[in-house]
Amino acid sequence: MPATFRVPFLSLRPGDDRPAIDAAITRVLDRGWFILGPELQAFEQELAAASGTADAVGVGSGTDALSLILRGLGIGPGDEVITTPLSAAYSALAIIATEARPVFADIDPSRLTLDPRAIEAAITPRTAAIMPVHLYGQPADMPAILAIAERHGLAVVEDACQAHLATCDGRPVGSMGAAGALSFYPTKNLGALGDGGAVLTNDRALGDRIRRLRNGGQSSRYHHDEFGVNSRLDEMQAAILRARLTRLPAWTARRRAHCLPSTCWDCPGNIITSQIAAPSPRTRLPSSATTASAGSTSAKPNTTARYRAFSCKSIRSSRASGWRILRRTR
Ligand SMILES: Cc1ncc(COP(=O)(O)O)c(C=O)c1O
Repeated sequence: MPATFRVPFLSLRPGDDRPAIDAAITRVLDRGWFILGPELQAFEQELAAASGTADAVGVGSGTDALSLILRGLGIGPGDEVITTPLSAAYSALAIIATEARPVFADIDPSRLTLDPRAIEAAITPRTAAIMPVHLYGQPADMPAILAIAERHGLAVVEDACQAHLATCDGRPVGSMGAAGALSFYPTKNLGALGDGGAVLTNDRALGDRIRRLRNGGQSSRYHHDEFGVNSRLDEMQAAILRARLTRLPAWTARRRAHCLPSTCWDCPGNIITSQIAAPSPRTRLPSSATTASAGSTSAKPNTTARYRAFSCKSIRSSRASGWRILRRTR
């Protein structure tokens, strides 16, 4: 019987960044300021600079970042948003949170992201926006998507929740459409020690509107001018993310160096996320092990359109082959 050693896929325990994280937490504890303080303000500036956008707004999660962008753009009931069925369900849930309707268009099998031809076929008079997902760090075909959006007068909202620092044709994700969303869920390339997210945008007016929306719709303290939500990136997470942001380019380079050639797509901007990164070649196997298998965190069991929550007739889907493609790539 061969002894099999299971290589841990990833550990969420802080590693060589532990002293910096301890220092960040201590700083926040000593200051005693936990919401909308100096750490968030500094993180937003540092994140915008690292991401190549004019503005960044810290919010409670990647899902909230997406729905707040849509709300900030005035998208809501009666509108349709074209997106991909091959993503975390949260992309489509963010659309539903605004009471708009997700319309699933098919994916391009080579990139696993929205197929521009399928987008064009899914446009109706109700279409208000296109939401490409830069899946596993692989940017969608943004030049083609932006051209369609311009032709039809549609907003583009980039789901970059898995694509921190990725670029497409040299342009950073989040800077090409109206805005982009990042997630800091702990397994993401830039992960918090809890939930978190951010909006990236070059549109400062949109950024300011989302700052109000994330804070109960307040224009100033105790002046609620519109129906906002409570979705602020807290000081502790902002301080931790500041410590990690400085390390992100080196971590990303290491992921790319370790990825298996067969899992890398031929796109200069692609950043390999934890979902498809190979275990570190430096992982030491016990001498008793004769085989090794890698654990996995997030092979998606289904495409979004196939979840029961999305099965109602009012959610349209093109004949998405995403499911077949997903099976082939697992
Ligand atoms: C592509 C994609 N979009 C949206 C989300 C939602 O992000 P969060 O979990 O921070 O709400 C995730 C996270 O799983 C994601 O991977």
